Amino acid sequence: MRDFNRRTFLGIGSSLILAACSGRASSAPRDALAPTPHIEDEDELPPVPAAACVADPTAKNIEGPFYKKGAPHRSVLADPKDAGERLLLAGTLRSTTCAAIAGATIDVWQANAAGEYDLDGFRFRGALTTDPKGRWELRSVVPGRYLNGDRYRPAHIHIKIKAKGFPVLTTQLYFAGDPYNDGDPFIDPSLIMQHSLEKELRRARFDFVLAA
Ligand SMILES: [Fe+2]
Repeated sequence: MRDFNRRTFLGIGSSLILAACSGRASSAPRDALAPTPHIEDEDELPPVPAAACVADPTAKNIEGPFYKKGAPHRSVLADPKDAGERLLLAGTLRSTTCAAIAGATIDVWQANAAGEYDLDGFRFRGALTTDPKGRWELRSVVPGRYLNGDRYRPAHIHIKIKAKGFPVLTTQLYFAGDPYNDGDPFIDPSLIMQHSLEKELRRARFDFVLAA
């Protein structure tokens, strides 16, 4: 069998050489003998991301006229004697690639339950710091509405986020179901929070995303 194969191979080989020398055209198409495409070594291939994640950056919203620099570092804005429905607001701060942003400052200011801002001091104003996993939490009251011209602004909380390596984000958070959300000239639907009432505590969540 081995000799037969060798003889057969040599025979075919001789025929091909003769055909080439006599100038006869091969019946096989030219590209049938195209070189094998280069295949990179496994080491040369780019790494495959473990889990691709892209998040939309949080929308900006107007600062308004009541921001004050220098708010104290604290996450509890309401004293026990303050009127209003208690609010627990929490969430995370991430980049658009979903990386947690730790050590960022979230400046918060809001009206009290009667819709009034403290312009003399720092009542219902505070600066939070995100933890190593980008988490933050705020305890306050649900802000009251206030007149802006001839219509009420819906309940909202002002936010200004300062994080190393990112531009400052100024925005506002709103509450789903507020009848003044519709028609408000400043609201952005992506900033409306869902919320629930559990044992007299209003709970809401918002996950901020910063674009570098
Ligand atoms: Fe406001």
